[in-house]
Amino acid sequence: MIPSVLPTYSRAPLHFVKGDGTWLIEADGRRFLDLGAGIAVNALGHAHPALVKALTDQAQALWHVSNLYEIPQQQALADRLVAATFADTVFFTNSGTESCELAVKMARKYWYDKGHPDKTTIITFSGSFHGRSSAGIAAAGSEKMVKGFGPLLPGFKHLQWGDHDALTAAIDDTVGAILVEPVQGEGGIRPLPDQCLKGLRQLCDDKGLLLILDEVQCGVGRTGRLFAHEWAGIAPDIMMVAKGIGGGFPLGAVLATEEAASGMTAGTHGSTYGGNPLACAVGCAVMDIVADPAFLEKVNARAGFLRQKLEALVAAHPNVFESVRGSGLMIGLKCKVTPIDVVTAGYECGVITVPAADNVVRLLPPLTISEDEISEAVNRLDFAADAVSETLA
Ligand SMILES: Cc1ncc(COP(=O)(O)O)c(C=O)c1O
Repeated sequence: MIPSVLPTYSRAPLHFVKGDGTWLIEADGRRFLDLGAGIAVNALGHAHPALVKALTDQAQALWHVSNLYEIPQQQALADRLVAATFADTVFFTNSGTESCELAVKMARKYWYDKGHPDKTTIITFSGSFHGRSSAGIAAAGSEKMVKGFGPLLPGFKHLQWGDHDALTAAIDDTVGAILVEPVQGEGGIRPLPDQCLKGLRQLCDDKGLLLILDEVQCGVGRTGRLFAHEWAGIAPDIMMVAKGIGGGFPLGAVLATEEAASGMTAGTHGSTYGGNPLACAVGCAVMDIVADPAFLEKVNARAGFLRQKLEALVAAHPNVFESVRGSGLMIGLKCKVTPIDVVTAGYECGVITVPAADNVVRLLPPLTISEDEISEAVNRLDFAADAVSETLA
């Protein structure tokens, strides 16, 4: 008999009942160090006092009001995002998938309004992940995601990640945009080198294309800059955001330049929930903390400390791990064993990690993790790696 919850997830037998900073507490009382943070969602850890206050204060006043009316919290969050980024304008969504939908619509509408209705093709790359909607799976294009769900939304050209020649050759008159994650998350924590991101920006400028960045996973302080593309010193035309911006409350956004957003006039897009007072009150509280340069400096210091510890961990377990990669507090441990075995052994040792593609275990801790917690988490990963090693003997 089918379970009452549609069985689309393979769930670990863990029942968390409470979160406290970097810690998750299981129903049986066990305490886990959370290096997954809800897959890069709990950017400020669990139950951060500033977020709890923002949410509960807003909950006392007004939960929801339609986008038919002015929403001051939404205006405040948009103003903060515009002040802190390349963007001139913001649309709020509830998830990364919805941000992908709008990014695709925005790019197509841009070219339609410019008198180029045929410029509908968006170039994307292998290993990418942009959500599970029809546009999201068509954009990523991997067989695992699209099989059985056709006919797919047309208009995406999938290229091999890192194949520059293929990229140049793929640009014809139908191409209107390039969509890329500055650091691939689901694809196995693969940072696009700064010079490649710069090269993509240059290519888009030369050919007159829109550059769309998917910073759903790598944005909001995760790499040690407010947004990952800042490391390369470039700016996109359109950017997808979600996950960390709500700190655990469902919230996403599409940020854009005035030019790229020029087709999105009244009535061209909308959302019932997107940008409601509760979500935006929390989003403002997240931005107040994460956009502070002193906070980001601390993220970079913690990232350096974690990286050093993980290099030692990898060196100590050459039969389990191959290498460490990533950016900031978005780290991948490339494994020589099946990643889920490391993740499962971690559960036994009280540490939460997340598997990704390309044989990688992902570490995406709260940006507020302390040095002591990092040391303890890596100790626990050390025990987990010992346990995996024993099964290999
Ligand atoms: C890069 C990227 N884009 C889009 C998405 C989809 O976001 P959501 O699950 O919030 O719809 C994800 C989710 O993991 C992601 O990592």
